[in-house]
This record gives sequence, structure tokens and C-alpha cells, in this order.
Amino acid sequence: MNIEIFQGLNLSLLVNLAYILASIMFIFGLKMLGSPETATKGNLTSASGMLLAVIITLLDQNILSFQYIAIGILIGSLIGYFAATLVKMTSMPEMVALFNGFGGIASLLVGSSEFISGSDMSSFLSFAIYLTVLIGGVTFTGSLIAYGKLSETISGKPYLYKGQQIVNSLLLLSLVLVGLEMIALGLSNLSNVELLILICSLAFILGVLFVIPIGGADMPVVIALLNSFSGLAACAAGFVILNNVLIVSGALVGASGLILTNIMCKAMNRSLANVLFSGFGAVSDVSSSKSEDQGEVKPINIQDAFLILEAASSVLIVPGYGMAVAQAQHSVRELGELLEKNGTEVQYAIHPVAGRMPGHMNVLLAEANVSYDVLVEPEDVNPTMETVDVCMVIGANDVVNPDAKENEGSPIYGMPIIEVDRAKTVFVLKRSMASGFAGIQNPLFFKSNSRMLFGDAKDSVSNLVSEFKD
Ligand code: TAP
Repeated sequence: MNIEIFQGLNLSLLVNLAYILASIMFIFGLKMLGSPETATKGNLTSASGMLLAVIITLLDQNILSFQYIAIGILIGSLIGYFAATLVKMTSMPEMVALFNGFGGIASLLVGSSEFISGSDMSSFLSFAIYLTVLIGGVTFTGSLIAYGKLSETISGKPYLYKGQQIVNSLLLLSLVLVGLEMIALGLSNLSNVELLILICSLAFILGVLFVIPIGGADMPVVIALLNSFSGLAACAAGFVILNNVLIVSGALVGASGLILTNIMCKAMNRSLANVLFSGFGAVSDVSSSKSEDQGEVKPINIQDAFLILEAASSVLIVPGYGMAVAQAQHSVRELGELLEKNGTEVQYAIHPVAGRMPGHMNVLLAEANVSYDVLVEPEDVNPTMETVDVCMVIGANDVVNPDAKENEGSPIYGMPIIEVDRAKTVFVLKRSMASGFAGIQNPLFFKSNSRMLFGDAKDSVSNLVSEFKD
């Protein structure tokens, strides 16, 4: 008997030690993700930590059927494999949003199955199940809406309606009341399943209503927040099934998502409350009418652009979502190298919300082997912008829109931008006069120092590369 207790203690000690090791691997992995040089190793370290955690959990817990787990792994792996290989690089942001949602629904299912399995519940367990289902449900439907907005199957415009704040307040009040009811019940089983269905339904509705009013330019904040929610839901699920590694990994995702949310809010110069409750991003009449009478745009051809670039002593490249669409990053790196060979100082300015997911431009430029040393942030480069000979805006639009500092009526007024309009010459590489994700016109295109280089960004940059090589 004593030997059995001793063996039991030893096993639980081993399991916890393995969980601690997995948690340490997550933390070091996250740390390594902070720099492009160590990011691949960081990814591998965190993934190995997760593999260790999964194996130990499967061996330790009383798994009823390994058959079902094997079937689940097979189906999940197949879906994951096809999703990862078939998805276009340009659709990565919406796929990441969708995966966030899957994290949320997985936690919701864990909480629900614990509730349905039926037992006397402590107030703490009821509260943990309630939080798991609530946050998991909001994350799931919120992420589906974010997916729709990013893939542009749903309009990026904010949906605002009369009485919106009242509807949301009533929804929140109902959720608090059913939560209290769940905690007071203290019992969970199939006969109380209506309560669970009610909480799930309210959480699903809240997820939709929470993301649908958020306008184009504010989506970075929402995406970071949903990422954090998926971690918090997993953390709550960890308390439900008393699994330490789930608590730690969920808390890490939740905390890093909150830090990212804060960075995104700073990048937009807005508070979280302002983003969530003000319907920012709506196109105001003031901004649209103002941009219609801006004057003529001045197109430029490849040969003239080449001559100006050849004579430039400093070039600042400002990439945006269009560079991702065109997959122009390799040609951009090649052009940068040719300019440097020609004696030009080349830097890349990255706006925190450029593209469609956090770090989007950094990832693309790292993939093309652009050195980390030549990447600069808006606050580094804005003070000396007047000294830059040529700014090449490659598929960026909202993040260089001067309305953010000049037009109080603009929905992006107050957002810090890369102030390319103050450079000596600006080349804007895009296909048409179409607006960016925020759906607003850009007065930069009409400024006297701007030249529009129309066409697909990859074609334009490749043509410039050919000119340099000739
Ligand atoms: P955007 O303002 O979205 O503008 C992208 C521009 O690229 C468009 O004006 C488009 O013009 C051009 N473009 C598209 N395909 C192109 C191609 N093949 N070749 C050349 N140009 C092409 O991009 P941005 O400046 O990077 O700003 C990002 C926006 O997305 C911000 O409003 C941000 O708030 C929002 N957002 C960001 C995130 C994150 S986390 N980064 C998430 C969600 C939303 P044409 O069609 O005329 O070519």
C-alpha cells in the first residue's frame, strides 16, 4: 500500500516536473520570437514544449479511449495540413483569425463537457466553467466576424445602429444574471443543460455584436484582443479540468495578447474603451468631401522613377498590405541591394499596423532576408523625414495618410503615421486610386511632391530592378 502511494506521488511529481519544463519551453520560445534571428528556434522550442505537454497529459490522465484521440489527431492533422498548404500567403491573416476562433470553441467544449458530465460543483468550479464558456463563445463568433472582415466577405465598415449601447448593456446584464444562477445552482447535469445553452447563445451573440461595429482601421486592436481572449478561455479551461500546463500556456497567450493589444492601441493613439465603444472607422462626410477636390495626381513611368532613384542619396521604403498582395518582398530586397551598391542609404520604415496582422511586414521582409538593422519605426524616421530624398510607398495607404494629422473630420485623425509627405519626393506604388482598408481617400496622392507609379507592386519593382541591372 505504502509502495503504491509512493509510486503515485512519484508519478504526479514527474508529471508536474514535465509540465514545468513545458512551461519553461513556452516562455523561452516566446522570448526567442522577439527577434527574426531566433524566431524559428523559438517556434520550434514552444512547439516541442507543447508536444511534451500533450504526451504527458495523455499518459497521465485516465484517457477513456485512445482510438477516439487517434481519430481526432488524424482528422485535425489532415485539416491542418490542407489548410496550411492550400491557403494563399495573402490569406494568412484571416487564417490566423480563424485559428483564434477554433481555440475559443475548443475551450467552450471543454467547459461544456465538464458541466454535462454532471457532479456537485463548488462555486469556484461553476465560475471557471462559466468563464470558459463565455470567453470561448465570444472568441469563436468574434473571430468568425474578424475572418469575414479580413477576407472582405463582410464589409470592413462599422455596423452601427440606434440603441446599440442599450442592446449591449442588456446582453451583458443577462450574462451576469445567468452566471450568478449557474454559481448558485452548484449542480451540473444534463437536466440543467438549458442554462448552459443559454450562456453559449448569449456569448455567441456578444461575440458578433462586439466585433461587428468595429471599423476598418481599428481591426488590429480587435485581432490582438481576440488572440488574448483565446488564451484566457484556455486558462479558464485549465482551472476547470485542473491542468497546470493549460493554465500556464493560456495565461501566457492571454497576457501576451493583452500586451499586443496595448501596442496596437498606442499605434492608433487610442484607448481600448474608445476602440470598443466609439464605432471608429466610419467614413465621415467631412473626410470624403475634402478629398474629392484635392487636385490632379501626377503619374510617373519606370524610366523616370529609375533616374530619380539613381540620383538619390537616401531612400526610405515604406511597405504596406499591397506588398503582401503582390508578394513583392523579394524584388523589394533586390532593389534595396542595388540601390545600396549605387551608394544610396536605404532604410525600411514599418508601421505597427501595416498589413493585416501584427508583424505582417516584418515577417515578409525577414522571409526575403532583409537585414533587421535597416528596419526603422515611424518615431525614428519622422523627425528627419525632410532629409529623405525618395520615399517609396509600396502598397501602403492608410499608414501614410496625412489626413491622420491634418483633417479633424477624418476617421483616422490622431493615428500616428509614417509622414512620407514631408520627404523631398514620394513614389506611391499601387494599382489604382482605390482606398485602403479604412475605406478613405488619401490626400498624399495629390501632394505636389508625390508621383504615382501605377501597377502591380511586384511588376513595378521588378522593372526598376531591370533598369538598374541594364
Ligand atoms: P491599406 O491601407 O490596406 O492599403 C493597401 C493598398 O495596397 C491599397 O490601397 C491597394 O491599392 C494597394 N495594393 C493592393 N494590392 C496591390 C498590388 N498587387 N500592388 C500594388 N498595390 C496593391 O494598407 P496599409 O497601409 O498597410 O494599412 C493597413 C490597414 O489595415 C490599416 O487601416 C490597418 O488598421 C488595417 N488592419 C491592420 C491589421 C494589422 S494587425 N496590421 C489588421 C486588420 C486591419 P490598389 O488596390 O489601388 O492597388
